[in-house]
Amino acid sequence: MRRALTSVLGAATLLLAGLVAGAPPAAAASTLKDAAAATGRVFGTAAAQSHMGESAYVNTLNREFNQLTPENEMKWETTEPSRDSFDYSAADQLVQHARSQGMEVRGHTLVWHSQLPSWVEGISSRTELLEVMRNHIANVAGHFRGDLTTWDVVNEAFEDGTGARRDTVFQRVIGDGYIEEAFRAARAADPTAKLCYNDYNIDGRNAKSDAVYAMVQDFKRRGVPIDCVGLQGHLIVGSVPGDVQANIQRFADLGVDVYITELDIRMQTPPNSQKLAQQAADYRSVVSACVAVTRCKGITVWGITDKYSWIPDVFEGEGAALLFDDNYNKKPAYDASLEALGGDPGDPGDPGDPGDGDVTCTYTRTSQWNNGFNGQVTITAGSSAVSSWTAVLTMRSGQSIQALWNGTPSTSGSVVTVKPAGWNANIPAGASASFGFTASAPNGDVSDPGLACGTP
Ligand code: XIL
Repeated sequence: MRRALTSVLGAATLLLAGLVAGAPPAAAASTLKDAAAATGRVFGTAAAQSHMGESAYVNTLNREFNQLTPENEMKWETTEPSRDSFDYSAADQLVQHARSQGMEVRGHTLVWHSQLPSWVEGISSRTELLEVMRNHIANVAGHFRGDLTTWDVVNEAFEDGTGARRDTVFQRVIGDGYIEEAFRAARAADPTAKLCYNDYNIDGRNAKSDAVYAMVQDFKRRGVPIDCVGLQGHLIVGSVPGDVQANIQRFADLGVDVYITELDIRMQTPPNSQKLAQQAADYRSVVSACVAVTRCKGITVWGITDKYSWIPDVFEGEGAALLFDDNYNKKPAYDASLEALGGDPGDPGDPGDPGDGDVTCTYTRTSQWNNGFNGQVTITAGSSAVSSWTAVLTMRSGQSIQALWNGTPSTSGSVVTVKPAGWNANIPAGASASFGFTASAPNGDVSDPGLACGTP
């Protein structure tokens, strides 16, 4: 008892001394979400339900992000594939996961010309399309009522370059008024979510962002319910607009919040150290622009790992646009983003820093046959030696490891954790160790297992 009291008093004295002397600042955050939270913001990512079975994917999501946007699961083609028949199953699972981790969720998106089922495209009566749009919003926003912090109510309604209204079925059949009708319907269905207009190439000042600005100004004047603007942030390495902060500020000055909603900064692949350094500078400038404006409330990257990014599918020859590489290693852009949020990626030599004391890893399929394959994993030390390592393979459905050499596996479901064989635990700075395995793939799926690695 006496001892406890003494230590309490001791602590109080120390605290007092700290106050008098100027208490040392709290340690800087070492994850994106903690650093963002310290500034009152969220740092989020798009996530896809189809990847949630991969442990490295989920672990990175949970460790780094405090906001999640379903990448496709809330889009019209998924939620109302045929008229009046609604499916929320995939989105519900993501919302549930987010809730279990204390993450915010952005709803994406209620009205968009893309990923829109053809039965909607075919409607030519104004009364009917208005009714269909209102019904979609009432159902979908009603279903998620209370679960979301924001909704992207309308997505990509303006043309690039000119700022004219994009020619979509909604624009053609309903006319200019469809956007405000959508916002009114969303407010009625979910009064708790902030309602955003979201678009790409409106990150800096240009004809398109001027058109969005004019619309938001008009909505605010006439009392149309709008609370926020989403700047998608699909950008190109070396060509980030110089006036992102000024553009965010002018929207904020209209009395709406601003979010960077789909940030990725793509390059011609393959990446090299020069491109990755430029990308880091580009991420730093966008994240800093948001942090500099009080009403810029959050940043969302459009995916966790380069491995699953939408960029290579849509922009030929481009990719490597995100903060983690194909093997979930942090890229230079990760450190730059963390620093821009006021966090600290750690001094060289800190455990966990890529390239200094930690390890990176790569997977190669060395041979394959009808229903099996051989794989090799190489673990490489950074600028310091490591005395041990762990690699985690996430096997695809049906795949299982039959034999493994130069490592010690332990299996739990589809996850195989591999420790050194003993003699290959020590890896000198810059050197590598590797292990190999034979896997069976009865259904012929020899595609690469998930891979993550670290120390110890
Ligand atoms: C993309 C998804 O990432 C892809 O998986 C899908 O095939 C197509 O849509 N702007 C948006 C997002 O608002 O919904 C898009 O997402 C990327 C561009």
